[in-house]
Amino acid sequence: MPEREAGALTKKALRSCLSERIASGVARVPVGACKTMPLFLAKRASHLTEAMDGPDCDPALLERSYHQFRAVNGLLSRSRFVYKRFIRPLMSDRGRGYSLLDIGFGGGDIARGLARWAQRDGLDLCVTGIDIDPRAYTYVQRFPQSPKLSFRLADVTTLVARGERFDFVLSNHVLHHLDAPGLQAMLDAAQALGARVVVFNDIRRSALAYLGFWLLTAVAFRRSYIRQDGLISIRRSYTAKELRARVPAGWEVLRAMPFRLLLIHRGARESA
Ligand SMILES: C[S@@+](CC[C@H](N)C(=O)[O-])C[C@H]1O[C@@H](n2cnc3c(N)ncnc32)[C@H](O)[C@@H]1O
Repeated sequence: MPEREAGALTKKALRSCLSERIASGVARVPVGACKTMPLFLAKRASHLTEAMDGPDCDPALLERSYHQFRAVNGLLSRSRFVYKRFIRPLMSDRGRGYSLLDIGFGGGDIARGLARWAQRDGLDLCVTGIDIDPRAYTYVQRFPQSPKLSFRLADVTTLVARGERFDFVLSNHVLHHLDAPGLQAMLDAAQALGARVVVFNDIRRSALAYLGFWLLTAVAFRRSYIRQDGLISIRRSYTAKELRARVPAGWEVLRAMPFRLLLIHRGARESA
């Protein structure tokens, strides 16, 4: 499937994507980004499902995928940039501790990275990762946990029902998994957790993102679901314009390099 489809990328589509001007780390959205896309990317392929989401997927390939998330995220997700830009500046009171929730931790690498970066910066940050998949929860049991870093098998709505609160809520590569009611419920729950800032970091669908990932995974990330599910993820992900049209007032959509969308909600204290 991917071989034929990547071949369908037109020169026009590539030129259009390449000519996007994204000045710094992030750009505001009124831009209709990559307007020309090959047919198979023109619409969000929300009907496609990722192998990893299936209960019967191969456990060895799944485990290797969790393991490889770290390198994929290190290359593409810009989590450290998100931390430096949106989280660290809000931890200016050195006299107090802060809390952060990572929704959908997967292989746990981003939650671990956040705990490590904050510690290096001399900041008192407690990171909690949650995931609804027991296989992800089992996978992360191999990593040391501490009062500053913990993983829970939980859904975000459970945390809301318990009245839990966090200073920051982050989530990477989860939005594109959700259907329309799931997206709405996720945003409502994230907002209800009372965070000073919520950042959903996800892929921005484009021809160049697809081609780039297709090429990268032709040589790397073998014997896992990374290539297969990653290409589906790109097809399931939003353009900036699509995401903007689906989110309620108060949520802001920014673009970041490479091929990222940041969906952000600032709490009353931050937007005042
Ligand atoms: C593609 S993985 C991304 C994992 C990790 N955030 C990363 O970027 O590498 C998506 C993860 O989100 C989890 N997930 C999906 N829907 C969720 C929900 N409603 N609440 C919590 N986790 C969810 C899945 O179980 C899966 O582990």
